[in-house]
Amino acid sequence: MSEKSSDRSSVAETEAEIRYYGQKLNELRSRALEDPEGFWAEVAENLTWFKRWDKILEWNPPFARWFVGGVLNASYNALDVNLKRGLKNKVAIFWEGEEGITRTITYYQLWREVNKFANVLKKLGVKKGDRVSIYLPMIPELPIAMLACARIGALHSVVFSGFSASALADRINDAEAKVLITADGLYRRGKVIPLKKSADEALGMSKSVEKVVVVKRIGLEDTPMKEGRDYWWDDLMKEAEPYCPPEPVEATDPLFILYTSGTTGKPKGVVHSTGGYLVWVWATLKWAFNPTPDDIWWCTADIGWITGHSYIVYGPLLHGLTQIMYDGAPDYPAPDRWWELVEKYGVTIFYTAPTAIRMHMKFGEKWAKKHDLSSLRILGTVGEPINPEAWRWYHEVIGGGRCPIIDTWWQTETGGFMISPAAIDLVPLKAGSATFPLPGVHAEVVDEDGNPVKPFERGYLVLLAPWPGMLMTLWRDPERYRDVYWSKFQPNESLEFKIKPPAIYYTGDYAMKDEEGYFWLMGRADDVIKVAGHRIGTAELESAFVSHPAVAEAAVIGKPDPIKGESIVAFLILKSGYEPSDELRDELRMHIRKTIGPVATPEAIFFVSSLPKTRSGKIMRRLLKAVVSGSKLGDVTTLEDASSIEEAKRAVEMLRKAMGEKS
Ligand code: WTA
Repeated sequence: MSEKSSDRSSVAETEAEIRYYGQKLNELRSRALEDPEGFWAEVAENLTWFKRWDKILEWNPPFARWFVGGVLNASYNALDVNLKRGLKNKVAIFWEGEEGITRTITYYQLWREVNKFANVLKKLGVKKGDRVSIYLPMIPELPIAMLACARIGALHSVVFSGFSASALADRINDAEAKVLITADGLYRRGKVIPLKKSADEALGMSKSVEKVVVVKRIGLEDTPMKEGRDYWWDDLMKEAEPYCPPEPVEATDPLFILYTSGTTGKPKGVVHSTGGYLVWVWATLKWAFNPTPDDIWWCTADIGWITGHSYIVYGPLLHGLTQIMYDGAPDYPAPDRWWELVEKYGVTIFYTAPTAIRMHMKFGEKWAKKHDLSSLRILGTVGEPINPEAWRWYHEVIGGGRCPIIDTWWQTETGGFMISPAAIDLVPLKAGSATFPLPGVHAEVVDEDGNPVKPFERGYLVLLAPWPGMLMTLWRDPERYRDVYWSKFQPNESLEFKIKPPAIYYTGDYAMKDEEGYFWLMGRADDVIKVAGHRIGTAELESAFVSHPAVAEAAVIGKPDPIKGESIVAFLILKSGYEPSDELRDELRMHIRKTIGPVATPEAIFFVSSLPKTRSGKIMRRLLKAVVSGSKLGDVTTLEDASSIEEAKRAVEMLRKAMGEKS
């Protein structure tokens, strides 16, 4: 990397550098704006199309159809194309299990497995357009199952294996999945978790699933298998035909559904298209990380989240990269497990989350120092704002001061990176800023009325134009799609934008721009919490709490946490007949783990007798947040019953005291 990649201080040094983008990106950006047909056609040529599109974009706000008339297949692009260009024997995946076993899978082998499993799915009755739920740990069968769905034009709906049975059931039911793919169990920090048992529990709550395929990850003796419904993966694969022709799929047909949290209790089924999504993932990976054929890519995310979909499964395979896939905890058996893998495989591009970086900071640099990390050339982060201290540690201790940090801002809904430094043309980096929007992205920071804010003023991050990777809709809920993303800001003549958008996409994030136009992301503006980078809705948590017989009302907030970014704090009103106690607190904690999953384990639970609400009955979480973090309360004029704030404060004080006494 050139000297450009180093961490320069916040002020650009020369006049020439004070511009919105690096020159090359600037050109791409103007082309994307002025000649979208030409620009996107050129980008889309990097994929293989069975039939070229007739029209780049059909935009009926808020519904966009990209590459209309184009026909392609995602698995063909991720696999067959690589075989054709001489990568047959290239390693696609170096896989490591937590317990120390390894698997090496070439592009040819991956292609074979995907073809066979596609035939398995067909035999199980899966057809184009059907939904397949996948509930697997980070084993190669997970991308194989996803690509097999893509091969036959079925939609995959991957559910994070850390989610509970009832979270899985909700997602299966909403998608009306016909088949579920799961495993007997998984390892986490040396412990075995019997995944099939959760899957069975979920299946007890759903009707749509006809067949279940079970991967033997552990070899658990007592895995329950239901005759006629459940099949072992290996048994089915033994009999499968080796080749499955890729189904021609319209660019505007959905590729997958991925559920994510929003501001209501019901998870949203984000639907991504085939053509636009793949073009976006291809392009953003190229721009932001500029990978070469020799790179060893490692994205540490779980495929259960969008980051894994886009930058473990589709992006790296479209680019024919070799990557690491690790099924285990970053600190097991010791805190240097990741660094050991970086050294072992000579990882060159490493992409992780700020929460992981902060965890490693806490372990101390001695663990990284034990290993030769000199192969690394680019680092990346995603999932939440990275604090400058963690940025610097990452840059110095992991990157040896050589590697640029590609801080990628994006969302499940955007499909791929939106605001991010671009390795093809780096601008001077600033610790904690995602720098500028990528080509084709028109981001602005606006006030409550939708007008651009001044530099350094916090506002809402909005997107002013459709982009190929955008979600198509929410699964079977176009009204909610319109409501959640496109209704907060109405375009009108008085808005002071450079372009006049017919519709404005609301990201739900706070952001600001500095005097040079760099974007600084400042966390969620809505009721979504980011716990260790995982997206969890407060409403989802609240409805999980009130589903317990003891709880009458619940308010949940995110509290700043030095490692996890945010942690979950709950204020609960108990039903009469129930008394606050430590036992009840533990029981409720378990209840949440069971209803949502261990990622949602609350850090603190406060029992209160009232909650601060507006006159219209909305819980003022902002106030609870202020109380918990000890900051100013701000405007309380809309508060119905001021005593509830005093009470919340008292409850917090009591708990703080109690926690202090315990420790
Ligand atoms: C947050 C993850 C600051 C943001 C890809 C966004 C970030 C939400 C960054 C989406 C970043 C993601 N800097 N904040 N680089 N990346 N976020 O859907 O609040 O799990 O709205 O997608 O994560 O979370 P999601």
